[in-house]
Amino acid sequence: MADRLAGKVALITGGASGQGREAAVRFAAEGAKVVLSDVQEEGGVRTMHMVQENGGDAFFVPADISVESSARDMVEAALRQYGALHVLYNNAGVIGEGRDGLVTDVDVDAWEFILSVNLRGIFLCAKYGVPALIDAGGGSVINTASVAGLIGSPNSGHAYAASKGGAIALTRAMAASYAKYQVRVNAICPGTLETPMTANLLQQSDRHREVVAQHPLGRLGVASDIVHLAVYLAADESAWVTGGVFTVDGGRTAT
Ligand SMILES: NC(=O)c1ccc[n+]([C@@H]2O[C@H](COP(=O)([O-])OP(=O)(O)OC[C@H]3O[C@@H](n4cnc5c(N)ncnc54)[C@H](O)[C@@H]3O)[C@@H](O)[C@H]2O)c1
Repeated sequence: MADRLAGKVALITGGASGQGREAAVRFAAEGAKVVLSDVQEEGGVRTMHMVQENGGDAFFVPADISVESSARDMVEAALRQYGALHVLYNNAGVIGEGRDGLVTDVDVDAWEFILSVNLRGIFLCAKYGVPALIDAGGGSVINTASVAGLIGSPNSGHAYAASKGGAIALTRAMAASYAKYQVRVNAICPGTLETPMTANLLQQSDRHREVVAQHPLGRLGVASDIVHLAVYLAADESAWVTGGVFTVDGGRTAT
C-alpha cells in the first residue's frame, strides 16, 4: 500500500468494469476510501470485494448516472458512508455498440442514449458531487473523455464523438468556474484500450491490427495506462493542475 491518496474519499462511476475497476483497486491501494458505482450490480460488488481482498476500503452503490435521482442518491450515499467527498471520477460511459454511426445513419434514440450517459451523466454527477467537493474545501473532478472528442476519423460514431467533445468543453468550463473553490477539473482522453468496452470491436484480427496501427507506440492501451494519470489528478501532486485535457493514447493524436 502507498499513500498518495490517503485521507481522500473518491467516488468512481463505472466501477464494475475496465478502467473504473482498475481505478477502484488502485485508488484504494493508494489509501483512498472508494465509493464505486455502476448500473451493473454484480460487477460492482465484485470490484468492491477485489478492493477489500486487497486490504482497501470500498463501498458499492448501484446507480444509473443518466438519471437525476440516481446520481443524487449516489452522492448522498457516498456522503452517508464516508462523511465527505474529495474526488469525483466521472469514468462511466457507453460506446453505443452497433447503434452509433454517422449522423446520416444514427437513429435519434441511439444519439439520445449515448449523450445521456456520456454527457448528461457527467453533468448530473457534477451537479450533486461538486457541492460536496466545495464543502470539503476543494477537490478533484476527473472526466473521462476520449481522443474521439479531439479528432475525427472516417468511420467514427458521431454520437460518441459529440459526447466526448462535450465532456472536454464541460471540463474547461467547470475548471474556470470552480477554481475559486479549489475544485480542479481535468479530462483524460484515452486512445483505444483493451477493456470490455472494445472487446467486440477488436475481436476480428483485421480490425485489431488496423486499430493498433493507428497508435504509433505499437500497441493498444490497457486500463492501468489511464489510471496512472488518474491517480496523479486525484492526488495533491496535481494541486496546480486544472482545465487540463490529457491524451493518454499511444501517440494516436500526434500523427
Ligand atoms: N475502452 C476504450 O477504448 C476507451 C477509449 C476512450 C475512452 N473510453 C472511455 O473510458 C470510460 C470507461 O470505459 P471502459 O473502457 O472502462 O469500458 P467498460 O465498458 O469496461 O466500463 C464502463 C462502465 O460504465 C458503466 N456504465 C455504463 N452506463 C452507465 C450508467 N448509465 N450509469 C452508471 N454506469 C454506467 C458500465 O456498466 C461499465 O461498467 C468510458 O467513459 C469510455 O467512453 C474508453
